[in-house]
Amino acid sequence: MQTRLLERAKTLEPKHPNKSTRLFGGKSSGILNWNNIAYPHWYKMYKRLLGNYWQADEINMSSDAKQFSSLSQAEQDAYLKIIGLLSTLDAPQTRIALLLSLYTTDSSVQSILAVIAQQEAVHNESYSYVLSSIVSLDEQNEAFELGRKDQVLLKRNEKIIEQYNVFVEEPSLENVLKTMVYTILLEGMFFYSGFAFFYNLARQNKMVGTSTMVSYINRDELEHGRFISELFRATLAENPDYNHPAFIQWVYDQFNESVELEIEWSKYVLAEVEGIDLQEMTGYIQYRANKMLRMMGLHEIYPEHVDNPMRWIRAYVDNFDGTKTDFFEQKARNYTKTSDLNGFDDL
Ligand SMILES: [Fe+2]
Ligand SMILES: [Fe+2]
Repeated sequence: MQTRLLERAKTLEPKHPNKSTRLFGGKSSGILNWNNIAYPHWYKMYKRLLGNYWQADEINMSSDAKQFSSLSQAEQDAYLKIIGLLSTLDAPQTRIALLLSLYTTDSSVQSILAVIAQQEAVHNESYSYVLSSIVSLDEQNEAFELGRKDQVLLKRNEKIIEQYNVFVEEPSLENVLKTMVYTILLEGMFFYSGFAFFYNLARQNKMVGTSTMVSYINRDELEHGRFISELFRATLAENPDYNHPAFIQWVYDQFNESVELEIEWSKYVLAEVEGIDLQEMTGYIQYRANKMLRMMGLHEIYPEHVDNPMRWIRAYVDNFDGTKTDFFEQKARNYTKTSDLNGFDDL
């Protein structure tokens, strides 16, 4: 069967209405009137995303810089590996937001994706920023090579790389939906063993600057996951042909497979780290998968982990919703801007 490719949305087309007729493959003038959009509640989402604005060099890294050498060797190795992981996973996200936005025929979605792309650019900068504050240039460069060279990491990322690249070659509606599924897995699950590592350090009062930064990234990723899940649901509803058992089964298969890979990865990278119970971590990964499936309007696949089994992490991630008073901000409100103090500008 010949796959029908989506056309790129027109930039400006006055013959078409301002209010989009479809999310993908529809008609829209390109003029954005937020008071006349197809999914009015997305305006709130846009405002919430804007409200989360932050920059990497607002975070004071001076105590982390002093503390890093006092971490155990296992902690130092895991720290660098996990920054390597996060930077690899976050690398495609700026472009993925752009790619989706090239094909959406809804201007409100395009604007939301533009804000997401800006945040992803900050996430990518922030990995360079923290590493430049604590290790030599050689070690920084080495951490950024992991995504190209580490065999476990390459295996773990194989499917996401494949799906993201297929979308570039073949921008069909099916690939838009599949790319959203992998984006949701990434925003809602793949990052979380890495996040847990830094929160675990923070609860021992170690590397609190890095964890503050990770908590900002975490807050953004939760919002991104939420929006892309809504976009997925709405796109499926507009295209009932894709809402059939074979496609939905494909989604569940990707979740199952990704959870297995994530558990394998967490055992590899967190094995020597004190304070993280790997069994609990497995439950936490399954809990995250359940949560994202629910947001997509699908059912849970790990009934034993409908609730978060990693109790201590709730203080760090479960209280972002709707407020700016997360754990780190309460504790670290007096941080100073240090962009000129830690050599990042010399990069
Ligand atoms: Fe990100
Ligand atoms: Fe994201």
